[in-house]
Amino acid sequence: MKRVLFVASECVPFIKTGGLADVVGSLPKCFDKNEFDVRVILPKYQCMREEFKNQLQYVTHFYMELNWRQQYVGVLHLEYEGIHYYFIDNEYYFSGPKPYGNIREDIEKFAFFSRAALSALPLIGFQPDIVHCHDWQTGLIPVYLKDKFHEGPFFANMKSIMTIHNLKFQGVYDVNTIRDVTGLPAYYFTPDKLEAYGDGNYLKGGIVYADAVTTVSETYAEEIKQPFYGEHLDGLMRARSNCLSGIVNGIDYNEYNPETDPFVTQHYNARTFRKEKIKNKRALQQELGLEQNDSKFMIGIVSRLTDQKGFDLIAYMMDEMCQHDLQIVVLGTGEEKYENMFRHFAWKYPGKVSANIFYSEGLSHKIYASCDAFLMPSLFEPCGLSQLMSLRYGTIPIVRETGGLKDTVWAYNEYEGTGTGFSFANYNAHEMFNTVKYAMYIYYEKKREWNKLIDRAMAADFSWNTSAQKYAQLYYRL
Ligand code: ADP
Ligand code: GLC
Repeated sequence: MKRVLFVASECVPFIKTGGLADVVGSLPKCFDKNEFDVRVILPKYQCMREEFKNQLQYVTHFYMELNWRQQYVGVLHLEYEGIHYYFIDNEYYFSGPKPYGNIREDIEKFAFFSRAALSALPLIGFQPDIVHCHDWQTGLIPVYLKDKFHEGPFFANMKSIMTIHNLKFQGVYDVNTIRDVTGLPAYYFTPDKLEAYGDGNYLKGGIVYADAVTTVSETYAEEIKQPFYGEHLDGLMRARSNCLSGIVNGIDYNEYNPETDPFVTQHYNARTFRKEKIKNKRALQQELGLEQNDSKFMIGIVSRLTDQKGFDLIAYMMDEMCQHDLQIVVLGTGEEKYENMFRHFAWKYPGKVSANIFYSEGLSHKIYASCDAFLMPSLFEPCGLSQLMSLRYGTIPIVRETGGLKDTVWAYNEYEGTGTGFSFANYNAHEMFNTVKYAMYIYYEKKREWNKLIDRAMAADFSWNTSAQKYAQLYYRL
């Protein structure tokens, strides 16, 4: 039996700001229970979902030394859908309306969390063979494991994996502050260890000290070895390329299932979508005040509104796109310039553009189930889950060929009758627009071809089946 501990800063259904939470929430359930005991440890945020917060059971508490600080560490537990979840409690660090926000606070918060997560293990009686760390918030764990923790027999043989979900976020701050909040000696702050360009860098620490490094698609694993995608760590990624692999994300096919999804108006499947899916479009047009017209080509967007996702291309083309026979439904929050851009176009083109500038799980599912196409022209995309959700619901992705988008959406080829979506190569607004127009042409003029695209999209399998096996192999290899 292999014991694996996931350490992460967010996890569905407790707390979510992005795809990381989906992955940490769904992957642990996908391992064979006879071979793996996978548990998850998370911060107990004040802003986590109330219904779960009230169910947590107190396990123990202790005081932990972190440099000159003495901090309270509470440990709570919840068994949910067969998985053991542990929560680290400390109201000083984990209160506030959002899990993250202020980088100075965050670097101290996650130094505390990383050390507390390891320190709690002997007390809860779980001795993992592998600690699987996710993103910069847990980058210190491989470092701590090789530092003080290494001395005791409990931790001596523990291996660690660092999974990069997004190289853009690294947890960077000045060395003195990081030394202060982590308690790590000067030894660690050289360019071959935690230092990068004069600052301390948590993710770099994780990448240098982990026994294996993974990222969430094969293409992104290659891309980050180049300066354009490497976020100044491409040299390190090249240096670590022996230990670096890409394992594409899956999604939970039970949670995202057009046949049973409690959020969608009309259930359907790969056989019935031709008749039934349209009912969701009608309902959504009505709910959002769009022109009620079955035949309108409806494009969905569900996303964090950031530069990463290619919104400057969309902003540039919005006016021109709206001259065409289509509808655009947006759900997202993020940078103010993009929030206001969509509000503006919803005002300018009423009945055509719907801007929903908030977070809503329910509406996101309705968009995946109602639209004809889903637009995701990302500048970079480590994996992307939204396009997988779209495929699952027979909503055809239009994507830029980068990272996980390139690995999961196969471009339509009208001569061979293959493909599950539409894609373009260059980060260029007109190239995106031409691809949208091409999709629109197939939708309006070649309905049978469009429906076959949906057949193939819904037949593609991006459940965790294959990728969980790859993680299992990696766990065995370590
Ligand atoms: P990232 O993690 O970079 O934000 P992903 O595509 O991996 O991108 O995952 C995004 C996840 O967040 C998806 O589950 C998507 O449905 C969800 N999401 C993004 N914005 C919203 C929103 N405003 N309301 C509901 N869900 C959202
Ligand atoms: C990050 C990436 C996204 C990926 C997600 C889960 O947020 O931006 O591409 O799907 O992590 O791995």
